[in-house]
Amino acid sequence: MKNIVLLGSTGSIGTQTLDVCRGLPDRLRVVGLSAHCNWKPLFEQAAEFHPRFVTVTDPDLSSEVDALSLFKGTELLWGETGVERMVTDPEVDVVVAAMVGAAGLRGTLCALEAGKDVALANKETLVVGGPLVTELAKRNGCQLLPIDSEHSAILQCMQNGRSNEVARIILTASGGPFRKRPVETFDSITIAEALAHPTWNMGRKISIDSATMMNKALEIIEAKWLFGLSADQIDVVIHPQSIVHSMVEYVDGSVIAQVSPPDMRLPIQYSLTYPERLFSPSRKLDLATLGSWDFELPDFERFPALKLGFEVVRLGGTSGAALNAANEAAVARFLEGEIAFQDIVRICDDLLRHHPYDSRPSLDDLVAVDRWARQEAICWTRSVSSK
Ligand SMILES: NC(=O)c1ccc[n+]([C@@H]2O[C@H](COP(=O)([O-])OP(=O)(O)OC[C@H]3O[C@@H](n4cnc5c(N)ncnc54)[C@H](OP(=O)(O)O)[C@@H]3O)[C@@H](O)[C@H]2O)c1
Repeated sequence: MKNIVLLGSTGSIGTQTLDVCRGLPDRLRVVGLSAHCNWKPLFEQAAEFHPRFVTVTDPDLSSEVDALSLFKGTELLWGETGVERMVTDPEVDVVVAAMVGAAGLRGTLCALEAGKDVALANKETLVVGGPLVTELAKRNGCQLLPIDSEHSAILQCMQNGRSNEVARIILTASGGPFRKRPVETFDSITIAEALAHPTWNMGRKISIDSATMMNKALEIIEAKWLFGLSADQIDVVIHPQSIVHSMVEYVDGSVIAQVSPPDMRLPIQYSLTYPERLFSPSRKLDLATLGSWDFELPDFERFPALKLGFEVVRLGGTSGAALNAANEAAVARFLEGEIAFQDIVRICDDLLRHHPYDSRPSLDDLVAVDRWARQEAICWTRSVSSK
């Protein structure tokens, strides 16, 4: 039996993680849950799973939350201190990091500091603090297991050879909703169009990231830190059907792929039962009805975000924190209708290029760059809207 704390339990990954827990009641016990502002669904989850704690991370909600409606055996905690208390509890074996954005970094660092394994959906954690997070995991003997379907696929493919036999990895990308849309019409892309992902049903931020292909840029950086790769060992290929989740090429030329219908419950479960495989409720492959699988090279001019991902892998230091914060701020502004779709990557490119770079930053340095980039993104937005 593994005791789990699930951060971001009300989101897309969070609710699918609870689905996995429902299917494996003899293996997985939920002892802590967190949400940011959706406290009612959080309390409903507590009524079903009877965790020891729940945390509401938005402290501004303290007057709104009806604490008396929480399951009687569950303690209500608040903010970052609540997250820290949950993830460091001696009873906890694994923390599922399913929050969105750089807000997930501290929870993962606290969990690793306390010697817990982390199942990581929150890729922003590695984009911002890759060296700090991986060094801490190594020092404390903790496993850092990916939930992202591409990185789970890479982990699964890597069971077929030694790490020094890996020539390169090939991350697949669906290409998002605008793979075929004429580039000259990109500035008229609406929020609804950008949120409509062709193969995955995800949270709002990652859906926009998939539309700009910034999601793949973040995954390139995530892969570098998870698997210790250099930029020339990472390739991206467009595969619109999202059936081949990624591949590993070994030095002898053999390529191992992980293949399954798009269903996040499979990689979530693998991260929680690794290295064991157990029956999963996830959709099963039916080759007869699948049709053809297509692969094409990514168009770096259409999706310039991809170049930024490789640039951050080469630069390291504070560049991931700058890119991530600029992107989070720009996506939020796009979702508020304040900037055009293409402005998202323009802002990221500009702030990545001009941020105060440091090659060996501390956590405080990363936080300072994160703050700087968010403020600059707001100034950028104001200058665009005043034109
Ligand atoms: N969805 C996918 O299929 C998928 C696949 C691979 C990787 N990922 C990654 O997994 C992470 C979660 O994605 P998602 O699609 O599940 O997002 P989501 O549906 O938007 O859910 C985000 C979760 O994080 C919580 N949250 C939001 N802001 C927060 C903050 N400032 N502090 C603490 N918690 C906060 C939300 O709480 P409230 O509900 O209260 O707002 C919610 O529980 C992202 O890093 C994403 O890139 C997602």
